[in-house]
Amino acid sequence: MKRRNLILALPGAAAVLLAAGYSALFLQRWKRSKRRKVFLGMADAIEEGEVMLVEVNGEELALVKAGGKIIALSTTCTHLGCRVVFRKAEKIFFCPCHRGKFDLTGKVLEGPPPLPLRRKHVKVEEGVVFMIEEAG
Ligand code: FES
Repeated sequence: MKRRNLILALPGAAAVLLAAGYSALFLQRWKRSKRRKVFLGMADAIEEGEVMLVEVNGEELALVKAGGKIIALSTTCTHLGCRVVFRKAEKIFFCPCHRGKFDLTGKVLEGPPPLPLRRKHVKVEEGVVFMIEEAG
């Protein structure tokens, strides 16, 4: 490429790079705006090792505080979809249908469930627990 052509091409290349940068920024913001925060509860309302049940969009979730961290688990068993119950004395989730057992993080301890309890994405902001949903 001749020097003169190179000088003429530089503004075009700069414009392309600028457009690519703005596109990336726009896509990032658009993606973020498709996320929805759903209020679940107050973080200090959940004691360490305890469970608080909440209902979101017709689905029951168990908010669990373990190791100071709050997680949200679906209470629908991953075997055949029965509802698990929290057994406070044993600190486990128990499925009455086929005796499946899960620990406080949703991990399978016993029984036929093939997978852990489904975990939801949660975020704690200023003491408020939100579930982050991807919209659409
Ligand atoms: S449905 Fe839960 S163990 Fe079978």
